[in-house]
Amino acid sequence: MKVSVVGAGAVGASCAEYIAMKNFATEVVLVDIKEGFAEGKAMDLMQTASLNGFDTKITGITNDYTKTAGSQVAVITSGIPRKPGMTREELIGINAGIVKEVAQNILKHSPEAILIVVSNPMDTMAYLINKVTGLPKNRVIGMGGALDSARFKYRLAEALQSPVSDVDGMVIAAHSDTGMLPLTRFATRKGVPVSTFLDEEQLKNITEATKVGGATLTKLLGTSAWYAPGAAVSVMVQSIVNDQKKLIPCSTLLEGEYSQQDICLGVPCIIGKNGVEHISLLDLNKMEKEKFQSAADAVREVNKDLKF
Ligand code: 2OP
Repeated sequence: MKVSVVGAGAVGASCAEYIAMKNFATEVVLVDIKEGFAEGKAMDLMQTASLNGFDTKITGITNDYTKTAGSQVAVITSGIPRKPGMTREELIGINAGIVKEVAQNILKHSPEAILIVVSNPMDTMAYLINKVTGLPKNRVIGMGGALDSARFKYRLAEALQSPVSDVDGMVIAAHSDTGMLPLTRFATRKGVPVSTFLDEEQLKNITEATKVGGATLTKLLGTSAWYAPGAAVSVMVQSIVNDQKKLIPCSTLLEGEYSQQDICLGVPCIIGKNGVEHISLLDLNKMEKEKFQSAADAVREVNKDLKF
């Protein structure tokens, strides 16, 4: 089973690495526009195969999409990352053109591929791909919620002083500093509501730290993060390739769900061989509904800047 990853920067290379390490794909094709860059990353990663015990073949190519032909899944990480102090939304001008072209190139050679969108602003890029490709909505999936939920669980475990494997929780709505909605009311420690262990103040701090999770790392690293984004994508890709049908919060085109139309936002999705196979409808309370709505309003504003 072939998976293509477009963009061999830190996020793309991490995706390729985690996918290979999990050993479920036959081949990962890493594509970049910078001459020799993807080839170099692929060679370096392939030299870890005997050390890390995987048989997935990683191939690097410069801008030759014919080598991506027959991909079951394609991951789009292309575009510029955030710099400290930037919001994801500020990247729209440069990234929209790149993402549109990449999606079209992939589909030319892999018309059946499921597209996973990582480039920012992610919800808007997922919407753009839906619009310009006309693909059925199940085949365009934005990665944000998978990553933001992992960051939420990290913060919950930190506050609970528990192993992260004890914790479950998810983040829905937008992949933005202001539009994320970490669902503390639904979060549990092995099925026990986290509110049993944590007070309001702690939950508020966890929520805030989760929402600025990407910005915090961008400030520390000088560019946006890559390990957790790469790992989040690898979980999504595996759920598709192995038809695991995992429930993963992802950005998907909403057609009435959560009272929204014609917008991509993060909601709990079942991810299987057909991409988004089901959207779970949570019983949000009044405050959660209001937050979801204001995230939608903000993403709609950003979507207005798109030219199709
Ligand atoms: C993040 O680190 C890549 O948007 C991404 O949040």
